[in-house]
Amino acid sequence: MANCVLLTSRRKCFALSQTNTFSFSRSKLQVSPVRSLIHTFKRSLSNNAENLSARNTMEAWYINEYGSNDVLQHGRLPLPSLRTPTDILVRVHSASVNPIDYRMRSGYGESLLNLWRKLENVKEFPLVLGRDFSGEVVKTGRLARRFRKGDQVWGTPSVIAVGTHGQFVVASQDEMSIKPFNWTHSEAASLPYVACTVWTALASRAGLKPENSHDKHVLVLGGSGGIGNFAIQLLKAWGAFVTTTCATDAVELVTGLGADHVIDYSAADMMEQLESLGSFDVVLDPFGGDVGEQYTSLLCKWKGAIYVTLAPPLLSKTDEYGTGLGLLSAGQYLTSSALQKAFCSGSLVSWGFFSPNGAALDYIRSLCQSGMIKPVIQEEFPFSKTNEAYVKLESGHARGKIVVNMISDESS
Ligand SMILES: NC(=O)c1ccc[n+]([C@@H]2O[C@H](COP(=O)([O-])OP(=O)(O)OC[C@H]3O[C@@H](n4cnc5c(N)ncnc54)[C@H](OP(=O)(O)O)[C@@H]3O)[C@@H](O)[C@H]2O)c1
Repeated sequence: MANCVLLTSRRKCFALSQTNTFSFSRSKLQVSPVRSLIHTFKRSLSNNAENLSARNTMEAWYINEYGSNDVLQHGRLPLPSLRTPTDILVRVHSASVNPIDYRMRSGYGESLLNLWRKLENVKEFPLVLGRDFSGEVVKTGRLARRFRKGDQVWGTPSVIAVGTHGQFVVASQDEMSIKPFNWTHSEAASLPYVACTVWTALASRAGLKPENSHDKHVLVLGGSGGIGNFAIQLLKAWGAFVTTTCATDAVELVTGLGADHVIDYSAADMMEQLESLGSFDVVLDPFGGDVGEQYTSLLCKWKGAIYVTLAPPLLSKTDEYGTGLGLLSAGQYLTSSALQKAFCSGSLVSWGFFSPNGAALDYIRSLCQSGMIKPVIQEEFPFSKTNEAYVKLESGHARGKIVVNMISDESS
């Protein structure tokens, strides 16, 4: 009935085409378009609602209780919202998995972190883990002037913020930086968490920097993991003399990263080998505990040498005894005999903690872009298999980083 003439009377309508005449009741003519209009309107409303809810939610891996890897769930959660005017919403392309993720999944730090969450009015569950990201800015807060929509950034949100094992993350502009232009998102995601932690330990605690490191002898325990890989490369970029420990099969890897001396920690005479190298200005110990403390005896005497442990007993003690007693008990750690000996020979002992640091990432970007720091990735997982990435890291013997890709670099 494309070309037809419409004649109407009070009760009937006639449609005249060149070949046919159609007649139908006027009430039908009026009612059916209204119904179809309502139907179309309803359908568009529901599509809009679906689109809106899809736009306001994201796929994420999260937990609703602490436990083994089975508590990790994959589903939709609300998009994290900007909490302050300097916050930025980032579409995550890649994230890495760190030991803190499987530990927090198991409840590590619950007591102290919940106290912090209470102060910041942050809900405990659902808890999205993941501490670093590389991705693209999609929305900026009113006062977040350092970045614009579309910027390619890398960073680390705070420990109590919604984590990075989701499609979107919110972090403050001070917790991120433009990613190295010559690194893929997978490569960039492998670094921010370990880089910011090592930065706290070596730059903030030990006071190392490019200008004063060339005559320093630094011992990095555990050169084969994420922390060790980055620490060796940063120290070599600053001209320090680096000794590291690792298992036999990782000697080649850490030598390739530039370590000057590599000691196999399975050797029965490991301590003697370390002692034969002379004393150290800085010992970076990711593992802590009684094992770590023995290394304080390797520090230079009366020269302000420093032992920095990344495994202080703070979170474990507060988990064990609650916040008050736990803090006291953690403080008691400083009276242990090995640490006392260090104090008595003019050395320092310090605790190192991860701290988000966009300015440090700005500086580290230049080392990455010039090739002085290279990404060391052991394995990549698609986002749908994030839970398997946790299993892989938790099974130990890391040789570099485990990365999860929300968007593959080819499709971005
Ligand atoms: N305080 C903080 O904020 C903070 C932040 C990040 C990390 N950390 C600490 O740093 C540790 C390491 O982190 P990561 O990211 O490097 O972990 P990772 O990627 O899992 O690597 C750990 C590496 O250490 C090696 N290793 C284990 N025991 C060792 C020993 N006794 N001597 C030498 N090497 C040893 C492991 O290989 P093999 O087992 O095959 O030797 C593995 O290559 C974490 O477990 C955590 O305690 C603390």
